[in-house]
Amino acid sequence: MKNLRDRFPFFKQNSALVYLDSASTSQRVDSALAAEEEFYLRTNANVHRGLYPIAEQATEKYEGVREIAKRFLNAPAPSIIVFTRGTTEGLNIVAQCWGRAHLKKGDEVLLTLMEHHSNWVPWQMVAKETGAVLKFCPLRQSGDLDYEAFEKMLGPKTKMVSITGLSNVLGTWVDMKKIVTLARTVGALVCVDAAQLVAHEPIDVQALDVDFLAFSSHKIYGPTGAGILYGKAELLNAMNPWMGGGDMIRSVSLESSEWNEVPYKFEAGTPNIAGVIGMGAAMEFLMEQDWKALQAHEKTLLELLTEELKRLPFVEVYGVQKWPTHRAAVSFNVKGVHAHDVAAVLGERGVCVRAGHHCAMPLHAWLKTPASVRASFGVYNTEADVRALVGALKQVNTLFS
Ligand SMILES: Cc1ncc(COP(=O)(O)O)c(C=O)c1O
Repeated sequence: MKNLRDRFPFFKQNSALVYLDSASTSQRVDSALAAEEEFYLRTNANVHRGLYPIAEQATEKYEGVREIAKRFLNAPAPSIIVFTRGTTEGLNIVAQCWGRAHLKKGDEVLLTLMEHHSNWVPWQMVAKETGAVLKFCPLRQSGDLDYEAFEKMLGPKTKMVSITGLSNVLGTWVDMKKIVTLARTVGALVCVDAAQLVAHEPIDVQALDVDFLAFSSHKIYGPTGAGILYGKAELLNAMNPWMGGGDMIRSVSLESSEWNEVPYKFEAGTPNIAGVIGMGAAMEFLMEQDWKALQAHEKTLLELLTEELKRLPFVEVYGVQKWPTHRAAVSFNVKGVHAHDVAAVLGERGVCVRAGHHCAMPLHAWLKTPASVRASFGVYNTEADVRALVGALKQVNTLFS
């Protein structure tokens, strides 16, 4: 595979660092950094307001990112690309703006046991307000989604299926085509939390026929504080905004306001202009890649790590790590050592991994552990990174035994 590590200036400053925490946040690609810098240096002005040339250029660049996102997701139009602060905001918009208007007492929202809190808590909040009921599809022992249970849990009361495309803990990949086909048998909508998925496979929202899909720029090598919510036009058009302020209105009078059209009605206030422009560069970076080669490389890393961890009797791995239904992340514990201690010792040895509940407490309750250590991959990781992690884990074991 082409050496993509050179595209990440971070590694020039931190050449010895083993960064295995891309599921948490990725490093930034050079073109995204350059796009942000260029905006600030050359065309820094607010968008949708100024009539002077740099303000018009800023607006043009910013709005151009909707066109990039349209291609990135194969969305039918740029006007149904809503800029957000990230996945969490996107999912909150769906839960608050769609959920409040459409859910009634007794209606059901089907989630899964492996959801991130960002796809859990917003629905809990709306369920409390509306009287809707949340249901959670179980997992198989392997960590796979139990599709048979999923099918049985669907019924006439299911109004929404909101589901991750790829678990941030177990790396479980979800067959979204199957989920959509099953959900349609009862007329339910499907909302995808693509926070992890988007960095690991190309997404075609029309082929998948999903109703909503949210992701964050910072997980695809772009800046923090930017993200995208895709929604079908008829759904977005029918939704009320969640936040009031500048840009989201068409007119304001003493008594009331008239909303702007989609997507602006969901984008109150001065947006993260530089972040959105950087996110555009990050999406272009991913679209330029040979996905087959990226995935083959990731498979090699996953299989190497899985094989190496199997050789360590003091390590317990969660789920069955088998490509392609598991990818991108491996969670484990060193028996008898708290995950935080493991990560701290690895950190001292220059290996960056995440430790804790990874914003998936209910999943950890099911795994019967309060915390785990997670290694996750980005396009810059190498086999040497995996070997460094395994070597450092052996040192952890020696230190604590
Ligand atoms: C599966 C999943 N969903 C949602 C989120 C939330 O993303 P953000 O914090 O960028 O809004 C994350 C972040 O780790 C995630 O892994």
